[in-house]
Amino acid sequence: MDHVVLTGDRPTGPLHLGHYFGSLANRVRMQDEHPMYVLIADYQVITDRDRPGEIQANITDLLLDYLAVGLDPAKVTIFQHSAVPELNQLMLPFLSLVSVSELSRNPTVKDEIAHSSQAAVSGLMFTYPVHQAADILFCKGTLVPVGRDQLPHVEVTRLVARRFNERYGEVFPLPEAVMGERPLLKGLDGGKMSKSRGNAIALKATEDETAALIRKARTDTDRLITFDEERRPEVANLLTLAGLCLGRKPRELADEIGDGGGLALKRLTTDAVNDFLRPIRARRRELSAAGVRRVLEEGNARARERAADTLREVRDAMGF
Ligand code: TRP
Repeated sequence: MDHVVLTGDRPTGPLHLGHYFGSLANRVRMQDEHPMYVLIADYQVITDRDRPGEIQANITDLLLDYLAVGLDPAKVTIFQHSAVPELNQLMLPFLSLVSVSELSRNPTVKDEIAHSSQAAVSGLMFTYPVHQAADILFCKGTLVPVGRDQLPHVEVTRLVARRFNERYGEVFPLPEAVMGERPLLKGLDGGKMSKSRGNAIALKATEDETAALIRKARTDTDRLITFDEERRPEVANLLTLAGLCLGRKPRELADEIGDGGGLALKRLTTDAVNDFLRPIRARRRELSAAGVRRVLEEGNARARERAADTLREVRDAMGF
């Protein structure tokens, strides 16, 4: 089978190292192997908040991050929800294929509702996994590189595709989630890495900001540095981060630091991160906001053509 890769991000702020090692590195590798679509999921921003916020600035930031890490617009179609009406229209027939009780069982939606700051659960929050099915199926995506939290959405997508095919004839392939095999990076405070918690190193952060964040990272008082994820999770997380940036084993780095303590560990991690991000940050500075906007316009046009074809096929299959 010829694969098509689709993945995406909500434009809610700059990407950080967790994104890089969790999925961006994987995408850069996959762009040479398969046709690939990368979605800037702008409509999805309003699932868990009332307003889209600084949406234009966030979209530009996301584009700059994508191109800085090496996504190549000659190989990858980068596009946004709000510019592809045909994609959004697929949501309507797809909603008819799932039951309300199936929607209400989705564990990721439940979790997001539990953590949402909104006063009420919107209809869009409830149905956004079906919108995500449209994201994946508009281009007949077969491989979906995502984090673990997104697996229920890929399941919904498979359900939608299977039911559509049963009811109206074979139109959609069943997509598969692809998960990175990298170790999970935690934030510098030991919690989930997240921009909003101030515990993440943005790819575009300056070297000084990076150093300041790592200086504040939690460690412990034992001067002998060891790699022990159970008992010393904060120290292990810094070693993991440095290891990823250096392409080395965290355990080896721990042995080298020996009894240098938290200070030596932080110095090594800061240098590792800044060295690793230096070329990415330099590329980012060379890009212009106008240039990346053009990339998006071209991607939007390509995605629109693809979505129009699929929508036509869907309407024909359904007899509209
Ligand atoms: N929900 C994803 C996230 O929050 C973003 C996303 C939207 C996505 N549509 C997608 C990911 C389709 C993969 C496939 O990170």
